[in-house]
Amino acid sequence: MLLRQILVNACVMRANWGRREGVQPHTKRPAAGARLGILAGMAVYDTLGAYEPPRTVLAVEPSHVMLAQRPPRSAPAVRAVAERLPLCDDAADAVMALLTIHHWTDLAAGIAELRRVARRRVVVLTWDQQIFRERFWLVRDYLPRAAAFDDTRAVPIGRLVALLGGARQETVPVPHDCTDGFGAAYWRRPRAYLDPRVRAGISMLAQTGEDALAPGLAALADDLATGRWHERHAELLVLDAIDVGYRLLVADI
Ligand SMILES: C[S@@+](CC[C@H](N)C(=O)[O-])C[C@H]1O[C@@H](n2cnc3c(N)ncnc32)[C@H](O)[C@@H]1O
Repeated sequence: MLLRQILVNACVMRANWGRREGVQPHTKRPAAGARLGILAGMAVYDTLGAYEPPRTVLAVEPSHVMLAQRPPRSAPAVRAVAERLPLCDDAADAVMALLTIHHWTDLAAGIAELRRVARRRVVVLTWDQQIFRERFWLVRDYLPRAAAFDDTRAVPIGRLVALLGGARQETVPVPHDCTDGFGAAYWRRPRAYLDPRVRAGISMLAQTGEDALAPGLAALADDLATGRWHERHAELLVLDAIDVGYRLLVADI
């Protein structure tokens, strides 16, 4: 049974980091019998949602901004990159990386680090770009340049499984009222994508750039105003969750 986890790469919006500034990296081996977990990539994108497994003992995140937004009562965090974790071998039961690997500068080194510090399990949330660009109406019908941008950084699932030394794959459907604001979170709330604050929290859109998105967003606004979007996507409006390619890879060491 996994008891505690450390998150590598943690970001939480609207947090109070102050009281955690004194946290030091865990460079020592945990006490005998200690059960730890590392979280690589903790998910929180909006004022409602926050996800940090309760047994998380350490979060790792390179961004000052993200660290500054961690809420009170979240696990201690350390500023570091996945490619060089300030942790000893076998430091944790489990290591988790959520929607972060596409940002790493050296994927192979980062995954090797997750495997080095995990005693029992490495969990990675990512997405299958081919499925995503075929099934997610936003990038397929309105924002092909965002899809093209993601083509340049999405990690093929097969490559990731190989780097993990084998992993089982689980489909992660996105609920219609998802409270994390990642890429497809608003699939049944199309108007949300017209909000610049929502787009700012989705790296695929923020990094593609507003100029490149403008024509597609204008078309979406028009389709929403005329009711065309709702006509075309009537079948979506009765669904509670959809699979647009998000995948959880679970590798037991
Ligand atoms: C899209 S956000 C996802 C954050 C979080 N995992 C989540 O699901 O909410 C990507 C995160 O990866 C972090 N990141 C970028 N490069 C990294 C690296 N080399 N190692 C660890 N984290 C990194 C960013 O600072 C950012 O917090």
